Amino acid sequence: MDKLLIALDLPTGGEALQLADTLRGSVGGFKIGNQLFTAEGPVIVRTLAAKGDRVFLDLKFHDIPNTVARAVAAATSLGAWMMNVHAAGGLKMLEAAADAARKTATEEGRPMPRVIAVTVLTSMNAQNIAQTGIGGTVIEQVSRLARLAQRAGLDGVVASPQETSVIRALCGEEFDIVTPGIRGGAAATAKDDQERTMTAKEAIEAGASYIVVGRPVIAAPDPREAAERIADEIRSARR
Ligand code: C5P
Repeated sequence: MDKLLIALDLPTGGEALQLADTLRGSVGGFKIGNQLFTAEGPVIVRTLAAKGDRVFLDLKFHDIPNTVARAVAAATSLGAWMMNVHAAGGLKMLEAAADAARKTATEEGRPMPRVIAVTVLTSMNAQNIAQTGIGGTVIEQVSRLARLAQRAGLDGVVASPQETSVIRALCGEEFDIVTPGIRGGAAATAKDDQERTMTAKEAIEAGASYIVVGRPVIAAPDPREAAERIADEIRSARR
């Protein structure tokens, strides 16, 4: 199931590779985040990419345009299929990111990676964003940054389930929306630290291009069976 991405939120490369081996064929790719990348380095990305896996490198780059461009170029050379940057880095930084991905992929004869943006972290509420000097509601800021990412030529955004339908309406059908925070339905496990959740089916019906699922699969007694149940639920969605 192409639309189902699994967050390999595990402490070691060994455990991550083992889980990937278990799930390969049932899921659409694997997300590698800051914990695993910081602990194990780029070898984990290279290893999965060499096995033909789609790797979403979730390192949320946010720096001056030149530095982000170099980081995006490095991630492209590693074989990442998708990567992300913070939209709050501004138009120039976003354009530099999109440009670097295009240039590196062309020079190295690789498929173009998808570069997507984080808008507002889902851990932030109206009060938190006001403390950083940003007025208005969270959804206004999310919408503003999604449009900025699109204007810069990025491929999409990461969005919470609650934001997905608004962004889909705002940015059109071609824009990738990657939605974590999946619980309930076939992912009926503990809520963990996720607050405003949706089922996989609801998220796809709200307009998600991909969903990211971690603990409901990782912590399941049989991760492959858990992933297949979620994949079946996605297939049942009306889109
Ligand atoms: O275990 P769970 O399904 O909650 O994992 C969701 C994954 O998506 C985690 O890697 C988490 O860091 C990530 N994520 C998220 N919410 C965001 C952005 C990323 O849960 N807004």
